[in-house]
Amino acid sequence: MDELQRALKIAFASEFAFYLKAHYFHWNVEGPSFPQLHDLFGKIYEEVYDSIDTFAEEIRATGAYTPGSFSRFSVLSQIDDESEILPAESMLAELLEDSERMAEMFRIVFNASEELGLHGLSDFLAGRQDAHKKHSWMLRATLK
Ligand SMILES: [Fe+2]
Repeated sequence: MDELQRALKIAFASEFAFYLKAHYFHWNVEGPSFPQLHDLFGKIYEEVYDSIDTFAEEIRATGAYTPGSFSRFSVLSQIDDESEILPAESMLAELLEDSERMAEMFRIVFNASEELGLHGLSDFLAGRQDAHKKHSWMLRATLK
């Protein structure tokens, strides 16, 4: 259980970092495709943000405390922070790479949850893997 809880905290901090990056790109994207990209990043950050509270409470339900500070997030997150203002295409490529990393992280944590028979938690994690697969699809299709 300790190992699963640690993996959940890493995935949670990474998901929060992913959410923040998508919102950051929503605010700062520029170029001739601004309306479409502003909306695409908007849809992605909203979907991810809407999952955050449930994710935090799933962690609490395992008996662990949920991290919730920038200092803890920066230690735990596996999504690299972005502080530059990137060209639109680089924003799409970077968020695509991050989304694929999140889907893979959820695939692994799902397996750990299933080993402990925590089917409700597994169900949530499977949903997050699927959500990131869809975000990846939209980002990849936009990059073509
Ligand atoms: Fe907005």
